[in-house]
Amino acid sequence: MIPFLQHNPTKLWFGAGQIDKLQLEIGKGARVLLVYGGGSIKRSGLYGQVMDQLSQIGAEVVELAGVEPNPRLSTVQRGIELCREREVTMILAVGGGSVIDCAKAISIGVPYEGDVWDIITRKATASSALPYGTVLTLAATGSEMNNISVITHWEKNEKRGWGSPLVYPAFSILDPAYTVTVPLDQTIYGIVDMMSHVLEQYFHRTANAPMLDRFMESVLLTVMEAAPKLVKDLSNIEPRETVMYAGTTAFNGLLSSGTDGGDWASHQIEHGLSAVYDIPHGGGLAVLFPNWMAHSAEYDPSRMALLAVRVLGVDPAGKSELEVAMDGAEALRSFWNSLGAPSRLADFDIDSSRLDELVEKSFMKDSIGGYKPMTRDTVRDILIRSM
Ligand code: NZQ
Ligand code: ZN
Repeated sequence: MIPFLQHNPTKLWFGAGQIDKLQLEIGKGARVLLVYGGGSIKRSGLYGQVMDQLSQIGAEVVELAGVEPNPRLSTVQRGIELCREREVTMILAVGGGSVIDCAKAISIGVPYEGDVWDIITRKATASSALPYGTVLTLAATGSEMNNISVITHWEKNEKRGWGSPLVYPAFSILDPAYTVTVPLDQTIYGIVDMMSHVLEQYFHRTANAPMLDRFMESVLLTVMEAAPKLVKDLSNIEPRETVMYAGTTAFNGLLSSGTDGGDWASHQIEHGLSAVYDIPHGGGLAVLFPNWMAHSAEYDPSRMALLAVRVLGVDPAGKSELEVAMDGAEALRSFWNSLGAPSRLADFDIDSSRLDELVEKSFMKDSIGGYKPMTRDTVRDILIRSM
């Protein structure tokens, strides 16, 4: 392992009925910016519950509604203006990863005098942020317990991931009951996303990290056990609960504390796809990730072969390491397809007409890939395999 500090300051309130902790966490006299998406929280009744909690502590509420899936810079900027005008003291994000990521960017943008895009593009560093909390409604990103946010500049077709130690949520409330209304497609995308987070961390090159490897295998196996039950019955609270906890654990720092962090090339390529075509993040990953595996196995099959045997049920008897690794990529694709995930970019009406642009938009950082460093040609190869 490599030396590490593990420090995650987010307070996690998990389980049924935890919504009443909002009163404790927000406190009397707060002026709250309530951030939410396109209306799912109104349809599910959660909006009413949140407003009820806030009214019991006499909070003044300002609303920012309509945060887009793949949240946009323009919405972040609107939120920053609202906070300044109305002297907001705390932000509350109620929704999925997009709503939470938007809240993170607002929280850091309010005290910053320049354009928040400077922070998102890492040209500037912030020194403070407005506190915020979350009520999660979709198990997927892990944003509810990490310091990462992904924001799209739609006019430039750039989707940028950024992070800061200042933007961990102060608290997050996770009640699996709030996720039973998530439709089938988003449920599947969430499962693919959280599994991809674990898989990308699994493809590290750090020696002697057996605890972390076993943690990761355990998260993957647990999700793979729960997911088929969940897609068969979306109202089943038990797999909802399991998957919700797995999604948070998958990307809150635990699994990569002690390794080099893994290989996030598939995420970078997916962010390029979403930046140009505005597709759901987990849908893009379902297509790209097995192709990244097959592509990278030819370079170094060792970790893929390990994963294939320990997690993906591949029998290694009589096969070379490369064959085991390739079978692993295929087993992962089959599993995701069995849930209903897409397997080709054509499923999103994406063809090769904007291939050059997709390659460029994947390189929002100077270098991508860790387990297998990527060039523009290798990214192109993965995209072509995915069409
Ligand atoms: O907008 P509303 O009406 O709320 O509907 C949403 C949205 O249409 C709906 N939804 C959410 N909870 C629901 C629900 N519908 C019914 N019932 C509920 N309980 O689901 C749709 C998708 O929501 P979204 O928040 O976009 O999904 P997700 O949580 O997958 O977030 C995706 C975004 O997070 C970024 C992605 O790139 C993408 O922009 N990521 C953020 C990360 C992070 N901060 O750590 C890491 C990830 O790798 C990822 O890149
Ligand atoms: Zn992701």
